[in-house]
Amino acid sequence: MSEPPRQPSRSIPAAEVGAVGGLSHVAIAVREADPLVDTLVHGLGAVRGSEELLDDGGLRVVFVHLGPVTLELLEPRREDHTVAKFLEVRGPGLHHVSLEVRDLVAQLARAKAAGVRLIDETPRPGAHGTRVAFLHPKSLGGVLVELCESPAANEGEPRG
Ligand code: CO
Repeated sequence: MSEPPRQPSRSIPAAEVGAVGGLSHVAIAVREADPLVDTLVHGLGAVRGSEELLDDGGLRVVFVHLGPVTLELLEPRREDHTVAKFLEVRGPGLHHVSLEVRDLVAQLARAKAAGVRLIDETPRPGAHGTRVAFLHPKSLGGVLVELCESPAANEGEPRG
């Protein structure tokens, strides 16, 4: 189905600044990831994915796939890690929602210009060679949002 021709708009078309392309993953903070992985695999038919250590070993991340949905289980390995502090205050639960973007720097600039409070002004390394940045939950309905740019996101794409 072809789209009708678009009239030029004075507002910035979302695609021009690397708009959100989809859901990357939903992250859950837990004290121990493995029991929850077992529950998801045996109880919901999930498939265990890869895992890695981030933040100089301070955070263990385990991915679990449920059809098109990916969960990221966050297990802190140090008491001073932000996820450990999160668990202390709130207990286990939803930690963040991660959205795929093609141009993280452009998307951060766009969010900032729109008045969204940024936790990360510049991208930082995420799992699997991604670059990520967090947006403040106060600006987004109480939900911590991560923007995630995959390593191949801009390959072969014209930069604008
Ligand atoms: Co994440």
